[in-house]
Amino acid sequence: MVDTSISKAAPAQVRIDLGERSYSIVIGTGLLNDAATWQGLPRAAQAVIVTNDRVAPLYGERVVRALSGYYPTVHTVVLPDGEQHKTWQSLNRIFDALLQQGCDRKTMLFALGGGVVGDMTGFAAACYMRGVPFVQVPTTLLAQVDSSVGGKTAINHPLGKNMIGAFYQPLKVVCDLDVLKSLPGRELSAGLAEVIKYGPIHDLAFLDWLEKHMEELRRCEPTALAYAVQRSCEIKAEVVGQDERESGLRAILNFGHTFGHAIEAGLGYGEWLHGEAVGCGMVMAATLSHRMGILSDSGVERLRALIQRAGLPVVGPRLAEDNPSRYLELMRVDKKAEAGEIRFVLVDDAGQAHVRSAPDALVAEVINACCD
Ligand code: NAD
Ligand code: GLY
Repeated sequence: MVDTSISKAAPAQVRIDLGERSYSIVIGTGLLNDAATWQGLPRAAQAVIVTNDRVAPLYGERVVRALSGYYPTVHTVVLPDGEQHKTWQSLNRIFDALLQQGCDRKTMLFALGGGVVGDMTGFAAACYMRGVPFVQVPTTLLAQVDSSVGGKTAINHPLGKNMIGAFYQPLKVVCDLDVLKSLPGRELSAGLAEVIKYGPIHDLAFLDWLEKHMEELRRCEPTALAYAVQRSCEIKAEVVGQDERESGLRAILNFGHTFGHAIEAGLGYGEWLHGEAVGCGMVMAATLSHRMGILSDSGVERLRALIQRAGLPVVGPRLAEDNPSRYLELMRVDKKAEAGEIRFVLVDDAGQAHVRSAPDALVAEVINACCD
């Protein structure tokens, strides 16, 4: 039974259980301004907020003010906005700032932004002086339901997305739903792709709920949004709690990502949003699941319809004259690939995910069927 009783006043807490690296994801409204949000974090001489030039003018000052009550010095590092800046150069700007400000190994980092800022700040925290503590303050829906949770941190390489990184858990994740009000509709839709993925891989009741509440989510209706963020985080916490470093189960969270990463790399990072590529990638992965005989035609259509209602593309882009070969070439760089064999996350009608390889010829058929 789906419980939608989250109170607007009381933040919800989802615990991610990882032994001594366990932490809470706090979900609610007014959290950035609430002193209780920041209480209990380790004290340090310096706190550094890492953000970007789009989010800084919206929320930077608010977080500086809140943290100034706890840390004697609060610095802000403002990176250029965009997936195309998820690079060594941006990472180095964080290290430059930390060193120039004389930050020690107790310095607390705060990632204020979407998944790009979160992934880069987490990686910087993992590396600086061999590891400093950090807190995720995700400001996109995508980051609140996925990237801020679970400790995957990375930058892109021209030859592959998120190829250079580390597993490094934050001390806390603060999901203030109020910040989503300034998110453009296209970005909200991109976040909905990562919300939708939790249904077919783990929880068909959640898929039913999403079908009923999609329009409310697109209108940013607070109760619906709160439930979607909470349920997504619960599912992610459950999966990551069992397989932190993706030796098996965690790979199911990559449903749609094998095709999606090929779309992102093939078009050039930033052309399609990550969530758009994942949304379309889920249609392609569902189609492959059907051709592999584990998902019914109606299962594919159900997912395609929901992804379309979320405002996401459902037809893949043409990446080259020989489109299937280009997709296959790009997908061989995927982190799930083993000995050059691509491994796909497939789903079945019972709401279970399976990580499997598939014959190239079949994958090529799917690419031809699903692309422009
Ligand atoms: P993003 O970080 O680029 O943010 C999207 C856009 O929204 C940016 O322009 C950003 O500046 C802007 N923005 C952020 N918050 C805003 C707000 N409240 N109001 C207005 N604008 C705002 O993209 P994203 O979709 O958040 O994250 C995508 C990234 O996350 C990708 O690099 C992807 O690889 C990564 N990711 C990582 C994981 C993980 O487990 N670590 C999981 C999924 C995705
Ligand atoms: N976004 C996939 C994962 O965290 O494993």
